[in-house]
Amino acid sequence: MTTGSHPLVPYDQGFHWKAHAAYFESRGIEAWTEGDIPHRATNNYTFARQHGLLLIELVQSLMAEGRCGPVERIQVLELAGGLGDFAARLLLALKDDLGEAGRALFNRLSYVFTDVSRTSLEQAIRRPALAGLVASGHVIPAFLDARAPTSARTLEGEALALTPRIVVANYACCVLPTKVFRKRAEAWLELHTRETAAPAESPSIEEPEAQEGAETDPWWQLVGEHAWLPVRLEETLRGPLHPRLLTQVLAHSPEAEVAYPYVFVELLDTLLERMPAGGAFLFSDFEDSSYEGRIGSGSRIPILYGDSLNHPVCFPLFEPLARMRGDDLLVSPGWHGTTRTALWRRGAPLPSSVREVFARGFCQGHVGQDRLDFEVAALKLSEAGDYKRALRFYDRCLALDPHALTLYEQAGATALALGDLDLALRYFSEGAARDSLREHDFGLRMSEVYCRQGELRRASELLETSLQTDEEPMTYLALGQVYLELGEYARAFRAYTRALELDPHLEEARQALAALQVAWCEAELGLRATAERWWEDKVRALTEATKKEPS
Ligand SMILES: C[S@@+](CC[C@H](N)C(=O)[O-])C[C@H]1O[C@@H](n2cnc3c(N)ncnc32)[C@H](O)[C@@H]1O
Repeated sequence: MTTGSHPLVPYDQGFHWKAHAAYFESRGIEAWTEGDIPHRATNNYTFARQHGLLLIELVQSLMAEGRCGPVERIQVLELAGGLGDFAARLLLALKDDLGEAGRALFNRLSYVFTDVSRTSLEQAIRRPALAGLVASGHVIPAFLDARAPTSARTLEGEALALTPRIVVANYACCVLPTKVFRKRAEAWLELHTRETAAPAESPSIEEPEAQEGAETDPWWQLVGEHAWLPVRLEETLRGPLHPRLLTQVLAHSPEAEVAYPYVFVELLDTLLERMPAGGAFLFSDFEDSSYEGRIGSGSRIPILYGDSLNHPVCFPLFEPLARMRGDDLLVSPGWHGTTRTALWRRGAPLPSSVREVFARGFCQGHVGQDRLDFEVAALKLSEAGDYKRALRFYDRCLALDPHALTLYEQAGATALALGDLDLALRYFSEGAARDSLREHDFGLRMSEVYCRQGELRRASELLETSLQTDEEPMTYLALGQVYLELGEYARAFRAYTRALELDPHLEEARQALAALQVAWCEAELGLRATAERWWEDKVRALTEATKKEPS
């Protein structure tokens, strides 16, 4: 069916999805580091550590069931890895924080870290957190497109054998191509969009459902010109699995609308099929709030992060799929649109020990979510000027997530705002002690505190040390300031000019050089004293001349 110059195509083939794919490729890890994409829920240390505990238990059950030998290498495959913080923290937890069992698993792990985006992958593995693990062979980076999940390639383009015992996929389902269906009695309608290069200015809505009130919602603003066209599930989707699943999931809903993540469903099915029995697939994603037996009559619209489309995930799809496949599945409860975690085991029941670890980590305490909530509370209290209470929440976050270096920075800054310099110093030094990869400039922060305490020499020593590992223009700027205050002008000059060499656009360094010139001239030549004397002489001469003038 076509009207106008462009045909209608199924939603998943529309222009949004082309922009979406291009976005991940071109934006690289700035998608995360510049704050386009929320990722703390799946990249915080607590969440990664819970996965570490689960991995230990899963591997122990594989051994107890005789499915794997005691020294056999264990391949873990992470899909859609993005920034790589989850991988780095998981491995850190296994190595240092989960006892003998953790260390033993760390030593036998081959962690295949993958993404579809070459830009992200190359940038992620250059970050200090992953670079060391790649160099030591614990992490193997590879390209993997979830639409063709059986082949992975190394950075050099060679095929990599995929034999995972465990697969992890965080926030992958929500970004993979999705079709949107409506069920009306026994008929199926699929969302189609006009295949234009950009959203239509004035979207028009086509038959057969143009009059429905729901169409005035933000869906059409995002999708542009669209239509709900009748389809046969067997024709619009590949293979018999999807029609079976959709029919079963919506058997008791005469009218429903569902965003159907068919690529993720195929991915699950394909990878589970290739794993030996007992293998596990762990995935976390944000939920669309539907629950078993109750799929809403309108699907939640996708959220745009950067140019990427993110569909809230309809978790009730998975239970029937696991049943159809004869697998075991646990899903953590959703709390008001939070991230849910699913643990899927191929062809074997989940042993009670694994169930317990899953329940403790992902269902009962839900400490990963607590940690995020405490941080939000701390930030809000700090913004409102209630620094003491904010610090109490930071302490609660840090107890749960002692590796989150940004928390030490934030707590230290809050202590500074409170005027408690010693406490600020404690947070910053604790952060510095944990920052073995030198990802944050705690030296700069601590030198700020020393300056405020009048300990300028200590401040300069700290900054010099920090610059030995990382030449940051802002650190040179701070160092110049300290030397200026110490009256060591030549050193201040060298620091400011080095800051400018590193960043020629650093306006503060230019201004600092100008201020240094004035201060240095005054100190060396006494120019201010000369100028003051000149002015006093001038005033005296003018006064006398005025007195002598006849009135
Ligand atoms: C929302 S991010 C999640 C990143 C990370 N797992 C996290 O939790 O922060 C989605 C990731 O999926 C990747 N991605 C998008 N399409 C993909 C595909 N077809 N195959 C594999 N990865 C894909 C993107 O490059 C991006 O890294």
